[in-house]
Amino acid sequence: MGNCCRRPPARCAHASSSDSAKPSNKSSFSAFQSELSFSGSLKSFNYSDLKTTTRNFRDILGEGGFGCVYKGWLEVNMSTSTKPGSGIAVAIKKLKLESFQGHKEWLAEVFYLGQLRHENLVKLIGYCSESNNRLLVYEFMPRGCLENHLFRRGVQPISWTTRMSIAIGVARGISFLHNLDTHVIYRDLKASNILLDSDFNAKLSDFGLARDGPTGDNTHISTRVVGTQGYAAPEYVATGHLTTKSDVYSFGVVLLELLSGKRVMDEDKLGFEETLVDWARPFLNDIRGVLRIMDTRLGGQYPKKAVQGAAALAFQCLHTDPKYRPLMKDVLATLEQLHNSKDTRTPPKTPPRAPPERPDHRRRRH
Ligand SMILES: Nc1ncnc2c1ncn2[C@@H]1O[C@H](COP(=O)(O)OP(=O)(O)OP(=O)(O)O)[C@@H](O)[C@H]1O
Ligand SMILES: [Mg+2]
Repeated sequence: MGNCCRRPPARCAHASSSDSAKPSNKSSFSAFQSELSFSGSLKSFNYSDLKTTTRNFRDILGEGGFGCVYKGWLEVNMSTSTKPGSGIAVAIKKLKLESFQGHKEWLAEVFYLGQLRHENLVKLIGYCSESNNRLLVYEFMPRGCLENHLFRRGVQPISWTTRMSIAIGVARGISFLHNLDTHVIYRDLKASNILLDSDFNAKLSDFGLARDGPTGDNTHISTRVVGTQGYAAPEYVATGHLTTKSDVYSFGVVLLELLSGKRVMDEDKLGFEETLVDWARPFLNDIRGVLRIMDTRLGGQYPKKAVQGAAALAFQCLHTDPKYRPLMKDVLATLEQLHNSKDTRTPPKTPPRAPPERPDHRRRRH
């Protein structure tokens, strides 16, 4: 990623049941779609101004399934664009007309990021909706996405301490979403959606797939299966049933990528049939074996007890049965404990005792 014209990772898009996130209150996403009532805190920009500030959409920062992301500039008041190189830098995402993710995801992004503010969510400044053009204007994240720092050749490897603080930032962001009244499910957690500021603070971007979670007696919401191969939870891919535990699984994948420095799907390093999760799972709960999965670019510079704690936590998050995965707030507490405690012997918080995992020989790609 980061080279602007890479192919975006394959996304799952199986039709199952209809996308039926149940609105839980007036400010639900479904209500928003019908009313198109944009959040008042967002600024509305002209297409021609955004075109000028990005040098006619030439200053590319990256590309995803939605379209390209460009660097642009705003006046200090953040309301008007200015000439390239002056004022405050911003990132401008332009929806491709033939985008797979499409208009509905653009709306979801405006809905969620328009009203949610948290230090671990990227700030949406405004949008442009002029004839067929759909654009979004965000705070600029100088260090780009985590994916570039973990997997791109020639990039300085990030230290163990930085990796842990990134994991904590991500866990804090997801925990914030899950603990809202509407139990928002992010649904697209992956290394390319974790953006880093100049101090490597992590912020979640891309709320196009986010949905209000189940409330009351509902145990899940039923959706069309969308997301990214390797990161989506197996039960969600199989049934379309979405819960906050789907995000916990994706978090386990990201944690594994932080530990190993390997991509969840990498045919060159892991072989065609194997995912990072398949490969690493047997080592994660093994006190000695776990060191075999660690990123060699760390040069052994990590506290072994903390590594074992983080790997055990990833193991829990990646449980095939969602009910044995921990809650995100417990994931956050465990990571903070591992990060802050000098005595890294403290074992991670354990969720309900789970039956032993049987190896799954029916590997499947979605
Ligand atoms: N606010 C931002 N500041 C700086 N760079 C950004 C910002 N938003 C996105 N980028 C860059 O643009 C790239 C593309 O982002 P985008 O979210 O469109 O695609 P993606 O996450 O790679 O794929 P997908 O569409 O599947 O989510 C990012 O990986 C990042 O390098
Ligand atoms: Mg993204």
